[in-house]
Amino acid sequence: MKGLFVQTYGCQMNVSDSERMKAVLQPLGYESLAIAEEADLVLINTCSIREKAEGKMQSFAHELKKIKKTRPGALIGITGCVAQQEKEKILEELPFVDLIIGTDNIDELPWIVEDLQNHPGKKIVSASFDSETAEISETQTQDSRTWHTETKILNPGPTAFVSVMKGCDHFCSYCIVPYTRGRERSRPIHDIVKDVVSLTKQGVKDITFLGQNINSYGKRTGESLHELFKRVHDIEALERIRFYTSHPGDLKDELIRCFEELPKLCSHFHLPVQSGSNRVLRAMRRYYTREQYLDRARSLRQARPDIALSTDIIVAFPGESEEDFEATLSLANEVRFDNAYSFVFSPRPGTSAAARPNLLTESEKMQRLNKLQFDLRRVSKELHMMEIGKTREVLIEGVSKKDATKWSGRSSQSIPVHIEKTNAHKVGDLVPVLITDATLTHLKGSPVVSPNDVRKLPNRDQRSSLRHISAMGSSG
Ligand code: 5AD
Ligand code: SF4
Repeated sequence: MKGLFVQTYGCQMNVSDSERMKAVLQPLGYESLAIAEEADLVLINTCSIREKAEGKMQSFAHELKKIKKTRPGALIGITGCVAQQEKEKILEELPFVDLIIGTDNIDELPWIVEDLQNHPGKKIVSASFDSETAEISETQTQDSRTWHTETKILNPGPTAFVSVMKGCDHFCSYCIVPYTRGRERSRPIHDIVKDVVSLTKQGVKDITFLGQNINSYGKRTGESLHELFKRVHDIEALERIRFYTSHPGDLKDELIRCFEELPKLCSHFHLPVQSGSNRVLRAMRRYYTREQYLDRARSLRQARPDIALSTDIIVAFPGESEEDFEATLSLANEVRFDNAYSFVFSPRPGTSAAARPNLLTESEKMQRLNKLQFDLRRVSKELHMMEIGKTREVLIEGVSKKDATKWSGRSSQSIPVHIEKTNAHKVGDLVPVLITDATLTHLKGSPVVSPNDVRKLPNRDQRSSLRHISAMGSSG
């Protein structure tokens, strides 16, 4: 056996790509390790969405230099979005790196690694988009607009990511994704269904479908996300369906209706707003207004009253005035997000917003971020406190990283929930939990029915009616 260490930065798509790297390297005898220093192959799966993410990967890579001294045969590779963008330029800055693998070249890893093992000192860069991904013309056939792949995960737990589309056609003025992941390509529904069936046979109960702009899934192939959800909903062993990330401008009523029709679709919607000011949204090239965003949020809450909304927000976009910033604050306080990720604008090479003058000082930018985060956290905490007394179904995903005496799982709303770790439950159990306490980051609770009682019920409908009864018994 040889040791493999994969360090992942960035989004869920990168987490899923790292799982794929481990799976494709297993036939070569690579086993995943927890310590980089003991590995024969270290891969750094990079993110370039903001400058900070790139900086973190640079310092980790420099740390690794010493591995070359202690383990002379060890190989170091850079994969992901920075690899895709910088390609061989990385080798000038980090000469101890042996391989560079782009976002579309993960499946080539086994051949590349074997080649490097057989030719010490050789360096390999493979970072080309698969032929049609970078440029898609309207004259191309339907099949060439389709992404053919198969989900590869070693020993999945109760939850799994399945990528259903990749790339983005939006070109928001601040965003590097269209350059690092190419144009939109979707997988056929029947391929995805095969993946889901196979994962559920391995014990997966909760699947998160991934795509950079997932609600335009199927745009070029004539399929759609709501059709996909309806198909996978029929898979008996699948309990929960989630998805990331959506663009408010592409959010159609058909998808919103799924929250009324499909009980397995979890009560969580991540809908990045980016700004509450129409002027800034225009400059960001987001193609929706504040009013349209608020309308979508309202419709989602009408379709599924207990839905949790989360978002991404950028502050200090070039030209953002005090009034624009106040509009973002007021939008956040109007929507009341359960969870929000907020960032200071980071100029990304090659994007149009990077060339815009930004007159704010670093301290003004941080002041805006702090002020926004203060409000976002206050609302999150308030909404979490309102969970106390409700009964939520929790899928146990593992032992809490913070406290080994607790099981950790998530509610349908994607809020982490901790319960006492006893033998009455195990990883993969769906447990109705009475929420008894709340913090900014997670909820605490105690099971209201033993998982045996839930499992004894013959079918899902009876299990949900039991859940319904226990939910009615709460003060929620
Ligand atoms: N600067 C700051 N934040 C950014 N994001 C994307 N690009 C940038 C950038 N250049 C944020 C957006 C996006 C999230 C994944 O990262 O809010 O939704
Ligand atoms: Fe980037 Fe999302 Fe805009 Fe696409 S829709 S360019 S991924 S921010």
